[in-house]
Amino acid sequence: YNVSDMKIITVIGSGLIGRSWAMLFVSGGYNVKIYDNQPGQSTKAITEIKKQLVELEEAHMLRGELSAAQQLALLSSYDDLSQALDGAFFVQECVFEQLEVKQSIFHDMERFVGKDVILSSSTSCLVPSKVFSKVQNRSRCLVSHPVNPPYYVKLVELVPHPETAAAVMDTTHALMTKVGQAPVLLKKEIDGFALNRVQAAIIAESWRLVQDGVISVKDIDLVMSEGLGMRYAFIGPMETMHLNAPKEIMPAGILGESSSEIVQTVSL
Ligand SMILES: NC(=O)c1ccc[n+]([C@@H]2O[C@H](COP(=O)([O-])OP(=O)(O)OC[C@H]3O[C@@H](n4cnc5c(N)ncnc54)[C@H](O)[C@@H]3O)[C@@H](O)[C@H]2O)c1
Ligand SMILES: *[C@@H]1O[C@H](CO)[C@@H](O)[C@H](O)[C@H]1NC(C)=O
Repeated sequence: YNVSDMKIITVIGSGLIGRSWAMLFVSGGYNVKIYDNQPGQSTKAITEIKKQLVELEEAHMLRGELSAAQQLALLSSYDDLSQALDGAFFVQECVFEQLEVKQSIFHDMERFVGKDVILSSSTSCLVPSKVFSKVQNRSRCLVSHPVNPPYYVKLVELVPHPETAAAVMDTTHALMTKVGQAPVLLKKEIDGFALNRVQAAIIAESWRLVQDGVISVKDIDLVMSEGLGMRYAFIGPMETMHLNAPKEIMPAGILGESSSEIVQTVSL
């Protein structure tokens, strides 16, 4: 695939995240067909998106090269799944975060799409092997996990099913980059993906310091908002270790065996 030649993307589910994806994809010049199984819901979504695009344009915060009117003209709404999927090369699913609902919509979708169409899920917490267990050809499936609000937070975690084709990951990476997001590739599926695992580690240590009576709740939050968070808004932990002497920023007892090997490697 050359993502510049492909034109139509279908968004399934027109809630908060579905509308955000639709706005991002039209900002990159794609035609976006929005489907929702609640009759009239996808039409309402377009009305809501129109309001937002106009406001963003007035605030000079509209993304992409096209005007709000041009972007709006790329949107269409559907109450019928097969019509919504017709012609699409990429499908972004944004229905409720319920395993059975996702499994069944992907099962239904597969009947209406050609063999090269990529099926992508927005799930926050479900691993691809569960989400796609009812799909026959899982090599075309992946999770593209956005961070709320996606229009302002660019990270998208791309998580493969064990059977996902490398070309599917690459095409999705190119698509996300083209619409101005910042995709990262996970090499295999894992609970929590990357962002929520890193967040969990920070929360666990913060909680431990509070519980051990080392610091107050208010002050541990300041450690992040007035210190570490400001650094991490610009550079990640690996680059931080590369720039600092790792022993100074790694107190005894924080790292396991394997992580200290990583630190050795990174700091070379
Ligand atoms: N809200 C967030 O912060 C956030 C962030 C990242 C990922 N996500 C994920 O994005 C997905 C959507 O979340 P949301 O916050 O937009 O939810 P939401 O409740 O706002 O919207 C869900 C939409 O899906 C529609 N829907 C439900 N079942 C459907 C079906 N079978 N077919 C078609 N449409 C259906 C509903 O009518 C509704 O319009 C979830 O998987 C969620 O975990 C959410
Ligand atoms: C399965 O999906 C892949 C990736 O989209 C595609 O290349 C392949 O042709 C599909 N196989 C079948 C049997 O449809």
